[in-house]
Amino acid sequence: MMAASSSRSCLQYVFHLAQDNLDFRLPEILALLALREKPFHPDGKFKEKSPYWCLNGLSEVDVRAIMARSVCAKSAFELWGHGHTQSELRTSLLNYPLENMAPFMHKDSKYKINVYTFNKTLLFADRIKRIDALDYLPFEGTVSLKNPQHIFCMLEDYGSDPNNIPEHPNYIYFGRWIADGQRELIRSHSVKNRHFIGNTSMDAGLSFIMANHAKVKENDLVYDPFVGTGSLLVACSHFGAYVCGTDIDYNTIHGKGRSSRINQKWRGPDENIRANLRQYGIEKMYLDVMVSDASKSVWREAALFDAIITDPPYGIRESTRRTGSHKEITKPADGIYAESHVPVTQAYHLSDIFTDLLNFSAHHLVLGGRLVYWLPVYRPEYCEEMVPLNPCLQLISNCEQTLSSHTSRRLITMEKIKEPEDLDSMVHLADPRFSPYQGHNAFREKYFSGLNKRRGKEDNKSDFNGV
Ligand SMILES: C[S@@+](CC[C@H](N)C(=O)[O-])C[C@H]1O[C@@H](n2cnc3c(N)ncnc32)[C@H](O)[C@@H]1O
Repeated sequence: MMAASSSRSCLQYVFHLAQDNLDFRLPEILALLALREKPFHPDGKFKEKSPYWCLNGLSEVDVRAIMARSVCAKSAFELWGHGHTQSELRTSLLNYPLENMAPFMHKDSKYKINVYTFNKTLLFADRIKRIDALDYLPFEGTVSLKNPQHIFCMLEDYGSDPNNIPEHPNYIYFGRWIADGQRELIRSHSVKNRHFIGNTSMDAGLSFIMANHAKVKENDLVYDPFVGTGSLLVACSHFGAYVCGTDIDYNTIHGKGRSSRINQKWRGPDENIRANLRQYGIEKMYLDVMVSDASKSVWREAALFDAIITDPPYGIRESTRRTGSHKEITKPADGIYAESHVPVTQAYHLSDIFTDLLNFSAHHLVLGGRLVYWLPVYRPEYCEEMVPLNPCLQLISNCEQTLSSHTSRRLITMEKIKEPEDLDSMVHLADPRFSPYQGHNAFREKYFSGLNKRRGKEDNKSDFNGV
């Protein structure tokens, strides 16, 4: 039913969501609502996979703020009417309080009406028919297609099955356009046009989604322990956070070595993370990056970061390694050679990477701060119990991005809910998911045995494009 109240504070809004990355949409909107301390109040018809969500309990200012951040939402509208048929829509619109419509329909206003269809393309003539049929609405202004003050939209939902498109829409909404989401960032920040890139640079859209899941906000301090070319720092600094990162790879941190571009052999003189932020006019948010092994924290023991957001190595496109050796190493004597000593590296098992990451986050996030990271998964054997846990971190969301029929990666979001009491309390040996070795080694073995089984049949690297 329509919002019966005439108060503008009790309006309903309809969000038009993009139909890609379906799993990521709800956690994104929930995080953006939480940033404004607003609850999620969908109407009774809410279906997570639908392109249209009707939300209650928001103000226009809330909706604009959410759209100023959302990469998953295309647009938001103040809902004036809805129904299964044009006739139901008409009844609903005629019941909508006139005083809510009047400020946008007076004779001095310029307006236009758009028709959006989901899962069907309408002929131009049919769109015009839809608009003409709205003659029962008291529009008094002039139509202006180029310079409207107010834009109204009819949104028609023809379901989600492209092989079974109904003749008439399953549902229709009509409302006043409020704002567009930030889909444009996907194009403007595409890694294709990024100054400094690598083989595993994170896709722009996903980087912004990660920053949203992490509830990154202005003046936050955000850290990426596997920073690579800094794609996640770009997204976080776009939302006003100060950013820093570390990576074990000297060449990546210093922007040296072989280029990842097809027509370029070596990286140019200014190909580095700072230059990436400069490219988008946000260099002032860059703190620094340094060469460091994530398995050996260099940070002082304190809750330093508002968010930790990262894409750890999966060992597909780049090796998982850390400093150290199983053999006895002859350390250089202190003195002139000590500074130039480059430590040897050994394998860094996936299980240890995630245990270390959770432990580090439990210690170095502020209370309420979020850890957002990717977990690679061998789909046939994945179950939720494989997601690493930590007693100080609450699991907020777990979203799948399918990479192939057998592989995917899951975007895990956790929030720090308590301070670690002492180092021993960080590991609850009774629960394998809190254990640094048992649960995870099983996960890792299955993950790689699954991949290995398929090696030869398929090119794994194409499964993990960008990993
Ligand atoms: C998947 S990539 C991160 C890509 C990054 N998000 C970007 O957009 O470019 C993982 C990174 O982890 C780094 N790495 C691997 N082992 C590490 C370790 N032990 N400590 C820190 N960084 C490590 C690799 O050098 C690589 O740059």
